[in-house]
Amino acid sequence: MMRWLSPWLSPRARWRLVERDAALLARAPIRAQKIRRSLGAELPHADAYVSSALVDLVGVAWLRKLLRAARGKPLLMGLAVDGRHEIAPPHRDDAALFAAFARHQRRFKGLGAALGGAAPFVLARLCARAGYRVELAASDWHLPSGELLEATLDGIATAACEADPSLDLADWRRVRKQQLAAGKLTLTVGHRDLFAVRRRRRPICRPD
Ligand SMILES: C[S@@+](CC[C@H](N)C(=O)[O-])C[C@H]1O[C@@H](n2cnc3c(N)ncnc32)[C@H](O)[C@@H]1O
Repeated sequence: MMRWLSPWLSPRARWRLVERDAALLARAPIRAQKIRRSLGAELPHADAYVSSALVDLVGVAWLRKLLRAARGKPLLMGLAVDGRHEIAPPHRDDAALFAAFARHQRRFKGLGAALGGAAPFVLARLCARAGYRVELAASDWHLPSGELLEATLDGIATAACEADPSLDLADWRRVRKQQLAAGKLTLTVGHRDLFAVRRRRRPICRPD
């Protein structure tokens, strides 16, 4: 986010970064001492708030806290899952698998019961109620057959079985492995980017 937004921001812009994963911090191209470890404490006031792949991990109370801290400042919350999974070709166990995975995504992740695929829509509603103009745009992952898809499906299946230990995915795993090897499997994971700015009470300049 920092690198991507930099062309639009003043070079003097100051960032406050937050990430709690020590393994990620060790690989960050920024000295880890500059990064706060927790989003749980009071959120600082800032001119804008941005995140990537975060808001689906938090609960509604944390989103309200974010909006209170933001006090009308712009928000750019990227890459929140929106609950869609399109996998081709289909398999009879897809629906049960993705339903169990969705339940896993809504577990407690440290900042309340996570909203999972509802997150971008809940945040959009809260922003609208707080007087923001909100834009939601699709930013889906499109995964062709390959190692990333294999790892993603493995993660989804493992999480789904944790959420529903009665799931029997033996056939699903066997068929998916064959399709991956043949390069015949694709997955789209629905994501949304949310951008919210406060509506101006009066236009800056009136048309003649
Ligand atoms: C899905 S990952 C996204 C990582 C990165 N922002 C990206 O887009 O690739 C979510 C990140 O949020 C971090 N995170 C989750 N809860 C947090 C918390 N309470 N405080 C700080 N970081 C947290 C996790 O450690 C994880 O790295």
